[in-house]
Amino acid sequence: MTNPIQTTEKPFINALKGKTHTNPPMWLMRQAGRYLEEYMAIRRSVSGFLELCYTPELAHEVTMQPIRRFGFDAAILFSDILVVPDALGQEVTFVQGEGPKLKPVRSAAELANFNEAWLHQRLEPVYETIRRIRKDLDETYPDTALIGFAGAPWTVATYVVEGGSSKDFANTKSWAYQDPQGFQKLIDILTSSTTDYLLAQIENGVEAVQIFDSWSGVLAESEFRKFCLEPAKKITQAIKEKYPDIPVIGFPRGAGLMYPNYVEETGVDCVGLDTTVPTGWTKENLADKVCVQGNLDPQILLAGGEELDKAVKNILADLSGQPFVFNLGHGIIKETPVSHVERLVDLVRGRV
Ligand code: CP3
Repeated sequence: MTNPIQTTEKPFINALKGKTHTNPPMWLMRQAGRYLEEYMAIRRSVSGFLELCYTPELAHEVTMQPIRRFGFDAAILFSDILVVPDALGQEVTFVQGEGPKLKPVRSAAELANFNEAWLHQRLEPVYETIRRIRKDLDETYPDTALIGFAGAPWTVATYVVEGGSSKDFANTKSWAYQDPQGFQKLIDILTSSTTDYLLAQIENGVEAVQIFDSWSGVLAESEFRKFCLEPAKKITQAIKEKYPDIPVIGFPRGAGLMYPNYVEETGVDCVGLDTTVPTGWTKENLADKVCVQGNLDPQILLAGGEELDKAVKNILADLSGQPFVFNLGHGIIKETPVSHVERLVDLVRGRV
């Protein structure tokens, strides 16, 4: 199957492909979520977070909420990076106020319980969600693109091994350093299932994909290369081989000095910058190679006021002269007032 419609006039897709805009296209990581009261109304109607992810009617609805409110240039599929381990057979639950919980997998022997054969069957509701969103966008918001996504193997592995969120990733790192070959098997399983998952998202209608490596910033160089850079390169190449027109965004959060290596070696079309990356440096070191996306500190958006105006104007001044997508440096914080997001949109659109 091929991607149903390739629209070349969407500003977001054009930026990813190298076009410069006076007012850059924009969307926000975690733009659908708890800072919106209409999200909370739907969230309260389901018993668990994953139920929301696996119910196409509701996942479609919450994907559209920020589009209707703010008119962003891209919608992002409403789902979570942890549907992949869930679909492989490691049950995932979300505990209110505590985040994700998984039964930890800490040795290569336990990987026998992962079954890639279940992947597409379990994720079919996500594909149905994509078809619904795409139809809605085509009919109602023809200039808005649909982004698919997955977690990067390393970041998903940290949840698989720790059994949830972590501060120091002690169990994941100790497995990776003590038994690098066994740990590589986990990375390989996640790389191949993530590739299959993203290809299926494309086949069902997403027009670009983002690979979220939220925890790539905690590894030493050689492990960064093995567990972050190499898998991102494999996934990107597999997508390019089958769907050369679908842009890939890599978000190696915290990659620091490894950002240029990541860009050059993975072949991504666009790189997501976290908040710590100086935009002036970006101009010198990345601008001629890829589209960049980012990188307003979500805490500044939460704070609002003059500091918000100043920070947004600085980013625009540094990055608008190159292929650029305005975004945050990480996901929006749930306490963020909607009025601050409205102000942000006005600033980026050049209306104030
Ligand atoms: O961006 C979007 O609007 C699309 C949806 C999306 C969600 N999660 C919905 C979500 C996306 C792209 C993600 C990615 C994700 N999920 C990442 C990578 C990006 C990042 O933030 O670093 C990670 C690490 C996860 C794993 C995850 N999901 C955690 C650790 C948690 C709990 C912490 C938290 O923020 O609550 C989630 C839950 C989650 N995923 C929520 C949403 C809207 C909140 C759950 C709820 O509504 O009860």
